[in-house]
Amino acid sequence: MAAASATLLKSSPVVEKCEWVKGQSLRHASAAFVRCHPTSPSALTVRASSYADELVKTAKTIASPGRGILAMDESNATCGKRLDSIGLENTEANRQAYRTLLVSAPGLGEYISGAILFEETLYQSTTDGKKMVDVLVEQNIVPGIKVDKGLVPLPGSNNESWCQGLDGLSSRTAAYYRQGARFAKWRTVVSIPNGPSALAVKEAAWGLARYAAISQDSGLVPIVEPEILLDGDHGIDRTFEVAQKVWAEVFFYLAENNVLFEGILLKPSMVTPGAECKDKATPQQVADYTLKLLHRRIPPAVPGIMFLSGGQSEVEATLNLNAMNQSPNPWHVSFSYARALQNTCLKTWGGRPENVKAAQDTLLVRAKANSLAQLGKYTGEGESEEAKKGMFVKGYVY
Ligand code: 13P
Repeated sequence: MAAASATLLKSSPVVEKCEWVKGQSLRHASAAFVRCHPTSPSALTVRASSYADELVKTAKTIASPGRGILAMDESNATCGKRLDSIGLENTEANRQAYRTLLVSAPGLGEYISGAILFEETLYQSTTDGKKMVDVLVEQNIVPGIKVDKGLVPLPGSNNESWCQGLDGLSSRTAAYYRQGARFAKWRTVVSIPNGPSALAVKEAAWGLARYAAISQDSGLVPIVEPEILLDGDHGIDRTFEVAQKVWAEVFFYLAENNVLFEGILLKPSMVTPGAECKDKATPQQVADYTLKLLHRRIPPAVPGIMFLSGGQSEVEATLNLNAMNQSPNPWHVSFSYARALQNTCLKTWGGRPENVKAAQDTLLVRAKANSLAQLGKYTGEGESEEAKKGMFVKGYVY
C-alpha cells in the first residue's frame, strides 16, 4: 500500500509536501497514518514513526497490573496552596523537600508505574543531590511531565475556559524526552453548570488531539485528560450525557490527527453526580455509569484508563476504582490521582523532617489500596477518618 500510494502521490499537487515529509528523519515523523491527498481516500501513505514501538511499550508499562500513576505535577501556585495548608512557605526548597519525600518512598514502584512531574521537578535534584528522574527510574517508575500551560477564559463562550500550551510544544516535548520524560499530560476542563457550550467542547477536544499528536512525535505517550468538573448540582445522568459528547468529540479529533491509539492513555473523570447534587451515588452506581460510558466511547486499542480523583475523598476514589474492576475490562482501568494519593501523606508530613518516614508510609498505604482496587481486591477496611474526608473545592484550578 505504501508503494501504491507513493505512485499516486507523484501526480498529486500535494506530493511535494508528502515527499518533504518522507525526507525527514524518522525521529520526526508522526506516529500513524497520514492522508496526503485531499480528495482520494485511497491516497494514504503510512509513516511508521521510529517511536511507535516505544510509545506502545511505554503505555503498556504504565498500564501494568496492580499499578497506576502518582500525579505530583501541581504547578508552583497549586503546590503553594498545598504547602500553605500545612503552614509552609512556597519556596523551591520546600517543594523540593516534599517531592523528594514522594519519589523516594521505599518500594513505591510496586504500586506506582508512572509519576507526572511539573517542569521544575523534571529538572530538579532531590535534597541529597540525585536527579528526581533517576530516583524514579531506580524505583521502576516512568517519569512523565505536565506540558499544558493552564486554563484561561474562552472568549465567546459561557464563562468557560480553554487550555493553552500548543505554541512551541514540539520543542518542549523534545527537550522533556531528552531529560528522561516518557509520557506527558495535558489537562483541559469542561464545566457542566456553564453549558458546556459546543464551542468549549470542540476547543477542548481539538487542543487535546493536537497535543497528543505532537507528544507522540517526540516519543512521549500523551495522557488525554478532558476533566469534566465535579462542580454543579446536576444528577449522574447529566454527567453521563455530557461525558458521552465530550469523549465522542475527543476521539473524533484524535483520529483526525492520526494519533496512534495504542500509544495513548486516558485520564477521565468518573461519572458521578455533581458535587452539590442532593443524591449521592454508591460505588456500584459510579462504576456502572462509568463503565457504560467507556464501553460506548473508548476503543479497545487504548491500553489504559487512568482516572483522576477530582475532589473525591481518598477512600471514595479507591472504592469507586475497585467497583470498576470486579470483572475484566478491555483496557487497564486504574488511577492517576493527585489529591487522593497525597492528602494524608502531606498532612502527616506537616513539613517536619522527623515525620518523613511516617508520611512515606501513609503514601504507600494509599498506593497499595489503589493497587488492590486496580485488581478489584480492595476491601476498604481499616481506613483512617482523614482518608474519608472529601476534597472538593468549588471552581478548583489545578
Ligand atoms: P486529582 O486526582 O487531584 O483530581 O488530580 C488529577 C490531575 O489532574 C493531576 O494530573
